[in-house]
Amino acid sequence: MTDPTRLEPSRRTFLKQAAMGTAAVLAYPTARVLGANDRVRVGMIGVGDRGNDLMGQIRSVHGVEVVAMADVYSRRRDQATNKVPGIQTFDDHRRLLERKDIDAVILASPLHVHARHFLDTLAAGKDLYAEKTMTWSIPEADKCLAATKESDRVVQIGLQYQSSAALTDARQWINEGWVGKVTQVECWMSRNTPHGKGQWVRPVPSDCTARNVNWAAFLNGRPERSFDPFRFINWRLFWEFSGGNCAENMVHQIAWVMGALDLPLPSSAYMSGGVFSEKDGREVPDTIAVTLDFPKDIVVTWQSTFSNRHYELGDRILGSDGTLEHHFDAPLQYWPEKTNRPGGTSTHGSGHEQDHMGNWIDCVRSRATPNAPPDIGYRSAIAVHMANLSYKNKKRITLEEAKAITPEF
Ligand SMILES: NC(=O)c1ccc[n+]([C@@H]2O[C@H](COP(=O)([O-])OP(=O)(O)OC[C@H]3O[C@@H](n4cnc5c(N)ncnc54)[C@H](O)[C@@H]3O)[C@@H](O)[C@H]2O)c1
Repeated sequence: MTDPTRLEPSRRTFLKQAAMGTAAVLAYPTARVLGANDRVRVGMIGVGDRGNDLMGQIRSVHGVEVVAMADVYSRRRDQATNKVPGIQTFDDHRRLLERKDIDAVILASPLHVHARHFLDTLAAGKDLYAEKTMTWSIPEADKCLAATKESDRVVQIGLQYQSSAALTDARQWINEGWVGKVTQVECWMSRNTPHGKGQWVRPVPSDCTARNVNWAAFLNGRPERSFDPFRFINWRLFWEFSGGNCAENMVHQIAWVMGALDLPLPSSAYMSGGVFSEKDGREVPDTIAVTLDFPKDIVVTWQSTFSNRHYELGDRILGSDGTLEHHFDAPLQYWPEKTNRPGGTSTHGSGHEQDHMGNWIDCVRSRATPNAPPDIGYRSAIAVHMANLSYKNKKRITLEEAKAITPEF
């Protein structure tokens, strides 16, 4: 189990400040200057389902070595030890960040700990790949964005569709005038599960016990209570740890649309829906309709169900001169509006997909800005939080109102 007293007092104070966003970010730099042939040494924080995917991705990037991981659950540390020869494992992410030879950190912890891990990693002078959604709340997003601005670290958000060929094509076709004036975008995302089994519900492994989990570190400031293995494994179902399906999936689509149309923060949001598919004790809704208004005279809608997957997921950008239709991992499609573009022809993209993880490592070496920098992480996170705040408050909510709400934690 974690022993917080293991840190010397000055370091302990510093890391506490860092977690609260009050430490000077570059007060604790450990960065090496990487030569072209140097291996990039990576540490990982929170190596569950997504973390294991990312571990596979990063290990396939040339010139990278995963040297350490931190996870509060012994099962995950054992898995990493079996997978990566020589990897050092920790139950406390701060021990990993103390290793001066680690250049860069990947974090894939549950949403409610993202900000803490994000801020601590920057404060330790490491480059960062941080899973979406950037943070659990708006104030945390403000702190994380501010920390990146004070830092010279390379930060990539795990919004991998920012590296898609479809986004490159959409930007080019929009800039070339193929789409015309866009006032409306419609997005949808749908899944289904067998009757009686709710989306996202995972079985609790028999070794998921208080002895094998650092429960206090998982809670990360949420009210103390005795170990709850169901909540630990199924944190996505509960608001105190999760942002529901807006944070899990809308964020990818809204970030893609924001990237394509260069949208600023939404001016207001409305979200309706509820727990309708499987009433299994979850708090976050499974049926959702979100409307986001943008200052550029654009309305973006996103609707989602967990009881029907017929239309799967996609985005349609509706313009006066043409329509773009986007399905993840498929080429972008275009149809002209004959009213305003009589000579236009329909087509589909043939652009080059980029490896999002590879793009991050390229930027760690070159110090260039990666494809999903903190700014798009921030804008998409704010859209997520505005939608959820509208749902929780049962009313349309403006950006100013959302920013004025003090989160529960
Ligand atoms: N980009 C994508 O397409 C994509 C896909 C899936 C998940 N994700 C994101 O990845 C993140 C993780 O999701 P997941 O499904 O892997 O969750 P998970 O529960 O499977 O994994 C989270 C891991 O973090 C560990 N953990 C919990 N608290 C910790 C702490 N304080 N310090 C260190 N480790 C801690 C847990 O033990 C677990 O192993 C989420 O933010 C999710 O939205 C992104």
